[in-house]
Amino acid sequence: MDMRAESAAAAMATELTVVVPTFNERENVPLLVERLDRALAGIAWEVIFVDDDSPDGTADAVRDLARRDPRVRGIERIGRRGLSSATVEGVLASSSPYFAVMDADLQHDDERLPDMLARIKAEHLDIVVGSRHIEGGTLEGLNRQRQAISRLAGKAGRLVIKADLSDPMSGYFLMDRRVFDETVHNLSLQGFKILLDLFASAPRPLRFAEVACRFLPRQHGQSKLDSMAAWEFGMLILDKLIGRYVPVRFVVFAFVGGTGLAVHLVTLYLLSFAGVGFAAAQTVAVIAAMTWNFFLNNLITYRDRRLRGFALVRGLLTFYAICAVGAVANIGVAEIVYSDRGILWLAGIAGAAIGVVWNFAVSNYLTWRRRTG
Ligand code: GDD
Ligand code: MN
Repeated sequence: MDMRAESAAAAMATELTVVVPTFNERENVPLLVERLDRALAGIAWEVIFVDDDSPDGTADAVRDLARRDPRVRGIERIGRRGLSSATVEGVLASSSPYFAVMDADLQHDDERLPDMLARIKAEHLDIVVGSRHIEGGTLEGLNRQRQAISRLAGKAGRLVIKADLSDPMSGYFLMDRRVFDETVHNLSLQGFKILLDLFASAPRPLRFAEVACRFLPRQHGQSKLDSMAAWEFGMLILDKLIGRYVPVRFVVFAFVGGTGLAVHLVTLYLLSFAGVGFAAAQTVAVIAAMTWNFFLNNLITYRDRRLRGFALVRGLLTFYAICAVGAVANIGVAEIVYSDRGILWLAGIAGAAIGVVWNFAVSNYLTWRRRTG
């Protein structure tokens, strides 16, 4: 390419990529593009929609627009869900020096984008965050309950990041691509909270600014922030707090095991009290505890891989089998430690530790096997 052609091409290169994760946002897509066109006049921009095979045909709506407007691009992912991972893949598919992330549903105030871009450049920042919690920002798009949850989640979020962000739950921000590249390998990628993940995973404290944003009510479609999103958020916080030392899932599993022990003892006492012989009472108590553990793990620990229907029965049976072997290992190890050291509590703890590690490792693999596809 000669130099003139090269500099002409460089002049056309996009400066800002707007990454928009979508799930069932068909009606919002054309409206958002129209709004971006107005808000970003004079800036070389593009938008990348990352759609998780929405049943409403959002990806088709994106392709329709893309055929007419080269600034519109789409990525469609099949068999996967997740706001964070969709966002990250959108950024990875772009090469602009700056990218912004926003909802498709027109809840984020697109008119702030030029300001955000001007600020990141003028102040040499890593990221500019749209905040609903500083002077001028609003939360009118959330009902009272969601507002309270959002504030609480913000507090939890600030536990795991070093920055004093007023709105770590924001889904609206603009970032320097180079900083993203330094961070992307450390991201948890779980769930909803990509901004929090970026701050928590960056190799150094991010230089940031906040701009006040209105958070408007949704016009079309529904929010996808449900109890699953809340669960993923909790796991993300735990992962950032303790994930470096132990897997979060193991901690939750062990906690569930602790409640199972309580179930065991209560059952044992109640049955003995009712006159049932020890061996029978102990057997029933063991089964009660295993069953309790299975269902609680299925509800909480493996919320994201929850078994239902026939898989639930199959899962329960494998779980019984695994725990039976775990119990044998537990007793075996406890005996060895006891005969070696003669310390009762040490033997008990050693046995229980082996039991819980075994149960976790094997049930993680057999009972709640990750479905690949
Ligand atoms: N690709 C993909 N996959 N996109 C998704 C998924 C998914 O699994 N789930 C949601 N989205 C898209 C939605 O289509 C929307 O464009 C955007 O991600 C945000 O989802 P909403 O359903 O609109 O979330 P919200 O408005 O309830 O939550 C907003 O406020 C939260 C703070 O209270 C978002 O801005 C969040 O990012 C923010 O944390
Ligand atoms: Mn939204």
